[in-house]
Amino acid sequence: MIYTVTLNPALDRTISIKNINPDDCNRVEAEQLYAGGKGIDVSKVLTKFGVKNKALGFVGGFAGEELEGLLINEGIACDFVRIAGRTRTNIIVNDIGANTQTLFNAKGPSITAYELMQIIHKIENLADPRYVVISGSLPLGVNPEIYRKIIEIVKGNGAKVILDTDGEALLAGVQELPNIIKPNIHELSRLAGRPLDCIDAVVEAALGLHQRGIEIVLVSMGSRGIVMISASGRYLVQPPEVEVKNKIGAGDSAVAGFVYGLCAGKDLVLSLTCAVAAGTATILQAGTALCNLEDFRDLQEQLTPQKL
Ligand SMILES: Nc1ncnc2c1ncn2[C@@H]1O[C@H](COP(=O)(O)OP(=O)(O)OP(=O)(O)O)[C@@H](O)[C@H]1O
Ligand SMILES: [Mg+2]
Repeated sequence: MIYTVTLNPALDRTISIKNINPDDCNRVEAEQLYAGGKGIDVSKVLTKFGVKNKALGFVGGFAGEELEGLLINEGIACDFVRIAGRTRTNIIVNDIGANTQTLFNAKGPSITAYELMQIIHKIENLADPRYVVISGSLPLGVNPEIYRKIIEIVKGNGAKVILDTDGEALLAGVQELPNIIKPNIHELSRLAGRPLDCIDAVVEAALGLHQRGIEIVLVSMGSRGIVMISASGRYLVQPPEVEVKNKIGAGDSAVAGFVYGLCAGKDLVLSLTCAVAAGTATILQAGTALCNLEDFRDLQEQLTPQKL
């Protein structure tokens, strides 16, 4: 079984308004609600690709109930820890007249020590774990060491961990040597503490992490594709040029594509092409929608891995 862990999920509420007038009453033309969060995105894509998985994380309050309801309606299995605080709601305002998008990201609830131990307990007792994907930022009041703890437990249970996060959480997580990491180039640059201005610099930084004991280092570079460093060598897969409709969730889709490839028994290089195809397929979708299976399959056929 595949599990995704999203400790800081959000309800994303998008409202569309034609030409916002400040200090006036504005009519909302359309309103949409999404269950957001990086691990949740991974679960959504895996589910689309027919890979059985379960989303774990914290939810609280009515927003938490709504988030879970949205996931159930999309056919996504979840097993959340209920918290005393309220799941955050992010507001996205689309001005369809001015063609602008303004994001208001909420901080989210604080997690108590007791709630933290509840998720640890859940992770210690996962049924038949194969891959556990840990994605995204940490909620208020949670020390980045939590990711170390989760990685230690999952590896101790014989499953593989994929970590996709940033900043201190990534720094703490890599100390515990997750099996796979997927920073984007900016996250890797912050982790390495230096600018990465060419492929050679990316490879060198990723190689350093691989040599420390991280089996597979995937570095996503937006339209330039993904570099993979593993025991089977160094590869780059570049996507074709496409019309960018939306970038939200491209990295999460790439993680899901890679896991899909592994679960389908493909080798690492083919799994890498699945990662790039899934990321780019999401770019083709407008709004916050994630990739569809048809685009994913079409793109896969267009990709040629390059050995570096
Ligand atoms: N402009 C683009 N054209 C084509 N494909 C793209 C483009 N941007 C991203 N992708 C695809 O998405 C994958 C992941 O993108 P990116 O490096 O932007 O991830 P990320 O920064 O982690 O994204 P996220 O915001 O979801 O965390 C890329 O490897 C590529 O396949
Ligand atoms: Mg990312």
